[in-house]
Order: sequence, then C-alpha cells, then structure tokens
Amino acid sequence: MKKILILLGPPGAGKGTVGEKLSEILNLPLISTGDLLRESVKNNTDLGKKAKIYMEKGELVPDEIVLAIVEGRIKEDDCKDGFILDGFPRNLNQAEILWKFIEKEKVKVIYLKADDEFLVQRLSNRRICEKCGAIYHLINIPPKVDEICDKCGSKLIQRQDDKEEVVRNRLKVYYNLTSPLLDYYRKKNILFTIAGDGKLEEIVSEIIKIEKNA
Ligand code: AP5
Repeated sequence: MKKILILLGPPGAGKGTVGEKLSEILNLPLISTGDLLRESVKNNTDLGKKAKIYMEKGELVPDEIVLAIVEGRIKEDDCKDGFILDGFPRNLNQAEILWKFIEKEKVKVIYLKADDEFLVQRLSNRRICEKCGAIYHLINIPPKVDEICDKCGSKLIQRQDDKEEVVRNRLKVYYNLTSPLLDYYRKKNILFTIAGDGKLEEIVSEIIKIEKNA
C-alpha cells in the first residue's frame, strides 16, 4: 500500500522545510505545488504566465491548473510507493478530487500550526535558492556563505510573495479556503497536529513516529 503524507498549514509554517527532511528520511518524493508553479513561472510557460497573476497577489491559482499539474506528477514512476504533498490540497474541491485517487492508500495529514504574527516575522527572513528552490532562514537556518545556496552554489533570493502585505493576504486566503480542510481530515481520523514553531529536528522526528505507527 502506498504511503501518503499531506503537509497542511498556513504560509511559513514549515511545510517545505519539514517536507525536504521527510523526503530524505522516508525516501519518498516531495511534491510541492508552490515549487512546481514557481518553476513554470520561471520558465515563462503558458501555465506559468497564468499562475503568476494569482501568485503575486497571494491568491490561489485556479483549480484546473493545479489539478492538472498534480495529477501528472503523482502518476510518475517515483510515486509508486507513495509521496509527500506540500501545499496541496488547498481547498475542499482539491481535497475531494485528491481523495478519489488516494482513499485506499495509507494517508496521514500533518497539520503544522503557528500564530500569524510569528509567521509574518518568519517569512520576512526566508530566502530561497533561485535555482534549486532550497529553503533558508537568515537567522535560524542560514546558508554557510552569505546569500549562496549550500546545495548548488546559486544565488539566494527573497520570494516576491513574502512581502508583508502579500503574506497577510495569503493568511486570509488560508483561513477562508484551506483551514476548512482541518475538519475534513479530522472527520476521517487522519489528522495529526504539530507545533510548527518548534525545533526542526523535533518536528521531523515527531512526524516520523506518527508515520511509523499504523
Ligand atoms: P506555496 O509555495 O505552497 O506557499 P505557502 O503554502 O504559502 O507556504 P510557504 O511556502 O510560504 O511556507 P512553508 O510552510 O512551506 O514554510 P517553509 O518551509 O518555506 O504557494 C505559493 C503560491 O502558489 C500560493 O500563494 C498560490 O498562489 C499558489 N499555490 C500553491 N499551491 C496551490 C494549490 N494547491 N492551489 C492553488 N494555488 C496554489 O518555512 C518558512 C521559513 O521558516 C523558512 O525561512 C524556513 O527556513 C523557516 N523554518 C521552517 N521551519 C523551521 C523550524 N522548525 N525552525 C526554524 N526555522 C524554520
């Protein structure tokens, strides 16, 4: 049976950072819709041009675009034993469509919880690698050399949507459209809540324990 982990939580809660570690430890691919969309924007594809308009404002990209990307990705060969989802699903429609694909699998949903003001502050210090997408934090998880990615040596940049006013809109969108998924998964008895503002190693080992328990 495939193992599927869904990382849920507000912007900046740590889904990408925790997801990268889990992917290495559990040997499952990490599928981040945010990363896939940013890649399309960078490559200036038709899809990227459409997505950019929404992403710049912190709004959700239309479901048909995101669903097409995810559907293609989870059918790839490396997903045959399972996968980790970061940033998807993002609303009830996405969750229901995903459920039709995965309801017979071993699914666990990890809710990374944190306060708004903490998140706004945390995101102001986030930097990402413009090439490989690796995530850093200027204070908590700094690169070894200033502004340079440890993994591929490329330049670190600030995400356009990490400006405070866009982060606040992303939080609003999260509460309106994504947070109802907490109840959706709670009712299925597969939701596990973890504080997203704790130590990274502790968060990761907590999730590994959850994942290992049947
Ligand atoms: P997306 O990229 O998914 O953004 P998000 O959900 O808002 O989440 P973030 O990437 O901002 O935060 P994160 O929780 O991954 O935190 P991170 O690990 O980086 O989406 C971007 C946009 O794409 C959306 O606004 C939307 O337009 C579109 N989109 C994406 N998916 C979509 C979908 N399904 N449907 C429609 N539209 C979609 O951590 C944050 C910072 O904290 C980093 O600096 C990190 O180093 C640091 N940090 C994290 N954890 C720790 C820790 N434990 N200790 C210390 N520092 C930590």
